[in-house]
Amino acid sequence: MSKQSNQKWNPAQYEENAAYVAEMAGEVLAWLAPQPGERILDLGCGDGRLSLSLAQAGAQVLAVDGSAEMVEAARKRGLEARVAQGQALQFEREFDAVFSNAALHWMHPQEDMIAGVARALKPGGRFVAEMGGHGCAASVIVALVAVLERRGLGRPEPMPWFFPTPEQYSDLLEEAGFFIKKMHLVHRPTPLPTGMEGWMATFSQPFFGALPEDERESAHQEAINLLRPVLQDHQGAWVADYVRLRFEAVLQADGG
Ligand code: BEZ
Repeated sequence: MSKQSNQKWNPAQYEENAAYVAEMAGEVLAWLAPQPGERILDLGCGDGRLSLSLAQAGAQVLAVDGSAEMVEAARKRGLEARVAQGQALQFEREFDAVFSNAALHWMHPQEDMIAGVARALKPGGRFVAEMGGHGCAASVIVALVAVLERRGLGRPEPMPWFFPTPEQYSDLLEEAGFFIKKMHLVHRPTPLPTGMEGWMATFSQPFFGALPEDERESAHQEAINLLRPVLQDHQGAWVADYVRLRFEAVLQADGG
């Protein structure tokens, strides 16, 4: 969730439309397996829901996010939380682990973020994360671009989300001194509790934020209509075509 670009975050709206983001994080949390007393950085903590579960496991958690509103929501949970951009981390050898869920794909340039994570970790520290992977939300992105093109606009450059293949991401991590312990690309159809309307309200800003305000609602409706035949089932439920990239990488003793 730590997000840059022109995306604005509203914790209450996020909770209503996208609580599934934290609810579906069981696997990556199990990969992290936080230990009592470990110092863990939660990068892109959003409203701190997952940071809290790390703290409840006994870890000393620092939660950071690019959104002041999200950091405020995390503090309300009693967490130590700070505003920090993922690509400009200022930590030196402080953490046993860096954790991230559904946030890394928002951070540009990736090389700067990964270098900051490597600096933040102690040698042998682990970087355990889940992010969008290659093909994530492909049909949604095609619909968003199509609606912009109908209005004579091109797609955002650079694209707001970075959804790499495992090979591409392994190369980036290895170049920064990480050893890849495991990495999985997982197709994870994701039911949307408030439908595509809720998804658009929460995530479409990097595409439609440039439109005049009175055109955004019609742009949403056009995109939703394009998506209906492929992402809405016969009972009206929406399922987004998410793909996740999950990995555990370890900082080599001479890395970072
Ligand atoms: C996410 O933050 O999880 C996300 C954002 C855009 C498209 C798909 C997923």
